[in-house]
Amino acid sequence: MGPGEQSPALLLRPWAESDASGLREAIDKDVAHLKPWLSWTLEEPTTLEGTRVRLREWVEQFRRGRAFRYAITPPDRPSLILGGAHLSSRVGPAAHDVGYWVRRSAVRQGVATAAVSTLAIHAFDHGGVDRLVARCDIANAASQAVARALGFRLTGSVTVQYPDGSPRPVHQFEMTSVDYRLHHAPRLRERARRVRVVTAVEGAGQEHCDDGARW
Ligand SMILES: CC(C)(COP(=O)(O)OP(=O)(O)OC[C@H]1O[C@@H](n2cnc3c(N)ncnc32)[C@H](O)[C@@H]1OP(=O)(O)O)[C@@H](O)C(=O)NCCC(=O)NCCS
Repeated sequence: MGPGEQSPALLLRPWAESDASGLREAIDKDVAHLKPWLSWTLEEPTTLEGTRVRLREWVEQFRRGRAFRYAITPPDRPSLILGGAHLSSRVGPAAHDVGYWVRRSAVRQGVATAAVSTLAIHAFDHGGVDRLVARCDIANAASQAVARALGFRLTGSVTVQYPDGSPRPVHQFEMTSVDYRLHHAPRLRERARRVRVVTAVEGAGQEHCDDGARW
């Protein structure tokens, strides 16, 4: 499904500690889909308590403005985790990196590009960000396709170190605020039209777990 009118609406909201069972369900269902590409899933599968600890870290990072990690859910089922997207200031004060993942049952429906478009619009229009960086494993065709579909430019390849010390060759894609304004803003706005964003306070997750039967 493309990024047009027919795409189901999405909610982008900050993670909450109460998302532990929802995040567990999503990871447990898709650990093989996620683990090769996401450094934070290296130790998965973990426990519900371990997941709570991780979510507390994400909430704290959000509060401190170090990383803005959002859950992606259907608007009418905010406890059903379709995926996640984040911006973090790891690259530098005016350059943020973007990350994203989508549960297997929701891929190829424009979910990642809609979420990243929304974050990019906020970063460039309201966050004073000069440059966004997406680092994609050289073997991760889907991730690279997301960056390319949004207009990110391949600027080179580097080797990054995973938390377990293993080296990972990645392609680095970038979008500058100038390129965004001159070329990409309309496309990103179109993709972001289906997304509703809520603040940290409004975005508290639900305590119960949604098994995602519809996705
Ligand atoms: C990578 C990932 C987030 C893509 O999510 P998604 O919601 O399916 O992406 P979208 O539907 O927004 O697709 C965006 C573009 O990429 C293309 N694409 C998506 N998956 C693809 C694949 N496996 N191979 C080739 N192209 C692909 C789509 O065709 C689309 O292009 P278009 O809009 O020009 O038609 C998802 O596959 C995933 O979570 N993978 C595991 C975790 C991961 O790799 N995260 C990224 C780490 S850097």
